[in-house]
Amino acid sequence: MSTALFRPALVTGASSGIGLAIAHELARRGHSLVLVARDPGRLSVAERALRDAHGVAVQSIALDLGEPFAAESLLARLAALRCPPLDVVVHNAGFGVLDPFATCSPDTSDAMLALDVAFPVRFTRLVLPSMLERRAGRILIVASTAAFQAGPFMAVYYASKAFVLSFAEAIAEELRGSGVTVTALCPGPVPTAFQARAGIGDASLLTSLLAVSASRVARAGVRGMERGRRVVVPGLLSRVAVQALRVLPRAFAARVVRRMQEQRGQRPAGATNQR
Ligand SMILES: NC(=O)c1ccc[n+]([C@@H]2O[C@H](COP(=O)([O-])OP(=O)(O)OC[C@H]3O[C@@H](n4cnc5c(N)ncnc54)[C@H](OP(=O)(O)O)[C@@H]3O)[C@@H](O)[C@H]2O)c1
Repeated sequence: MSTALFRPALVTGASSGIGLAIAHELARRGHSLVLVARDPGRLSVAERALRDAHGVAVQSIALDLGEPFAAESLLARLAALRCPPLDVVVHNAGFGVLDPFATCSPDTSDAMLALDVAFPVRFTRLVLPSMLERRAGRILIVASTAAFQAGPFMAVYYASKAFVLSFAEAIAEELRGSGVTVTALCPGPVPTAFQARAGIGDASLLTSLLAVSASRVARAGVRGMERGRRVVVPGLLSRVAVQALRVLPRAFAARVVRRMQEQRGQRPAGATNQR
């Protein structure tokens, strides 16, 4: 490591999309970074770009966070790097798949739950005691506007985002006054590699008024996290949509999502979280 890690922030899924944009926001604020994703090539490209742009220390760890005991493996890798206690943890790595539930791959659903739900819960549980001892720490969990309604044809993904939103809000309240804050970031559609990985054929949502760039999402998320906000929904239209969802019948909202997903075109079964 060339420079010491100072005020370290760990970002999962930091090699592309929203995670990479969040890493830039944090580096701009002087945090050193630990980036985590699976592909070591893309990680080292991100590492170099962040170091060149902001002059902060950047380390990366290539690890599949969907593997059993990934949280313990990550802590062991951080210890091997002699990383000081984490100031900021960003749970961003995640994926979804557009597939009818009855024919989706059970292994892909399990992989989604492991990455999108189980890892953030377990790793948060493991790092919290050290944050509480220091009475300092910020946790940012990337959920989605999908968290506010049921999502036919992406049932497991929408449910996983509802889980992490509820989890984040609950522990934010448990931790009130402790010096540790928890923020759920809930973006609408963001043009990233997510859509191709999910097997979403029709990209019209990405050109719709609801779409927000990864850098805007990152800015809103990091700002909200710094202010200790519990839920951040970037983009005015998405905020209006989320408010509308609070009063609309849930069955009606599910029907609207169903129609939208049908228009996006269901691909033949078999999309996975390919690197
Ligand atoms: N894009 C959207 O429209 C949108 C909207 C709302 C919420 N979100 C959420 O935003 C988050 C980031 O998505 P994105 O749009 O930025 O997607 P993305 O560009 O596909 O980025 C996903 C990142 O996660 C890493 N990753 C994937 N599987 C992993 C695993 N098993 N272990 C470790 N790292 C893994 C990927 O790198 P490797 O493949 O090399 O591992 C990559 O760095 C996700 O939680 C997603 O649900 C996205």
